[in-house]
Amino acid sequence: MSKKTGSASGSKNQTGKASSDGMGLSELLKGNKEQKTLKDLFQDGLKDMLSAEKQLVEALPKVAEAAHNEDLQNAVEHHLKQTEKHVQRLEKIMTYLKVESGSKECEAMKGLIKEADEIIKNFPEGPVRDSALIIGAQKVEHYEIASYGSLCELADVLGMSKIHDTLGRTLDEEEQTDQDLSDLAQDINDEALESEGESHEDYNSSGSGSKGKKGYGSSL
Ligand SMILES: [Fe+2]
Ligand SMILES: [Fe+2]
Repeated sequence: MSKKTGSASGSKNQTGKASSDGMGLSELLKGNKEQKTLKDLFQDGLKDMLSAEKQLVEALPKVAEAAHNEDLQNAVEHHLKQTEKHVQRLEKIMTYLKVESGSKECEAMKGLIKEADEIIKNFPEGPVRDSALIIGAQKVEHYEIASYGSLCELADVLGMSKIHDTLGRTLDEEEQTDQDLSDLAQDINDEALESEGESHEDYNSSGSGSKGKKGYGSSL
């Protein structure tokens, strides 16, 4: 990404408002003119994922504690162990490539974790919170899948076959976790719906939608 050139108090963007990172839009678009390579992009991606995985290691115990369903708790704890392994793999790759992790922070993961915190704050413990936690966890997995998928492609194009295979193992695990969460979601969503008793609306049945067994299906 481009270098920060704004003042400590934050520069103004084209609408006159200071942007959150102190950089105006025109400055952002001008960007850093320093030539960058695919290798730079790859290394930047490794740093991003190391930050993302480390943030997850910090956040997942809280998510496990917030989950009500035992299977979900176990899934989150399993994911934590896997995430610790992902950190180790990345550190090994970065040591081999002599890439310093530096101070790069994955802003996307920071945001996703913030959303999970909001879920925990806004939904009391129970099946509906569990459903929401699974949605949050799957957003995380999809970010990881996209990131590791891209890193695998870059490792491939850069001729780093062993690194490609190591990242590919992590990618496979992320995809499996996502699938496991989808399977778990079916049971937990059913549990959440049952906990609402007869008060829910059935959107699958034909009819104009009302409490109980009628729904909105035919109006779409
Ligand atoms: Fe991971
Ligand atoms: Fe993951």
